[in-house]
Amino acid sequence: MNQPIKIAPSILSADITHLADEVRRAEDAGADYIHVDIMDGNFVPNITFGPLVVKAVRTVTDLPLDVHLMISDPAFYVPRFVDAGADILTVHIEATPHAHRLIQQIREAGARPGITLNPSTPAIAISEIITDVDLILVMTVNPGFGGQAFIERTLDKVADLRRMLDGARSDAELEVDGGIGPLTAGRVVAAGARVLVAGAAVFDAPEGVSSAISTIREAAYTGLER
Ligand code: DX5
Ligand code: ZN
Repeated sequence: MNQPIKIAPSILSADITHLADEVRRAEDAGADYIHVDIMDGNFVPNITFGPLVVKAVRTVTDLPLDVHLMISDPAFYVPRFVDAGADILTVHIEATPHAHRLIQQIREAGARPGITLNPSTPAIAISEIITDVDLILVMTVNPGFGGQAFIERTLDKVADLRRMLDGARSDAELEVDGGIGPLTAGRVVAAGARVLVAGAAVFDAPEGVSSAISTIREAAYTGLER
């Protein structure tokens, strides 16, 4: 496993009244993906964006759109989000009893499938499907809101999944989401993560988006030396 570190700013914390500018700022600052959080007010206690916003973001950036579905009926909405421009479409293992089928459905619709786990879900819950996905997302906070504190316990799960992926000789990306910033980036990378979602640490940073992304990236690279 010798993958580069990627930073995926989450527009959940962007200034939505200037969304196009915020996305371009992130792209100019060297972001690797744009992370779009879809919440339905049912799977999680918050409501955010739908396919219309994914479609709008698609028109202002060439970066891959990393769409994170926190919704109760992901299978029904897969075609809509792929048509809207999702490059990576990540679904929660807790949201479906038919993850294997759902992953094939995402791939057949034309996107790269990802699977994600809530903090209370163990790594073993996805052991049968790790070779079917292109990305595994470890939630390092409980999904629903930006700006929450990183849950330390999830570091062990990142390390477990890194071992499982390497053992399976999979080059699927290992991504973390929630509470990631300069203080946590090095540790999640040391545990094996290579794609770092960051919302508040990028868009609420007083020093601005560009400098925030550079600082997180520098902190992340220190994790490779551990
Ligand atoms: C939380 C979302 C995250 C959120 C992360 O439910 O999935 O993507 O934007 O926000 P921060 O980086 O502020 O914890
Ligand atoms: Zn997310």
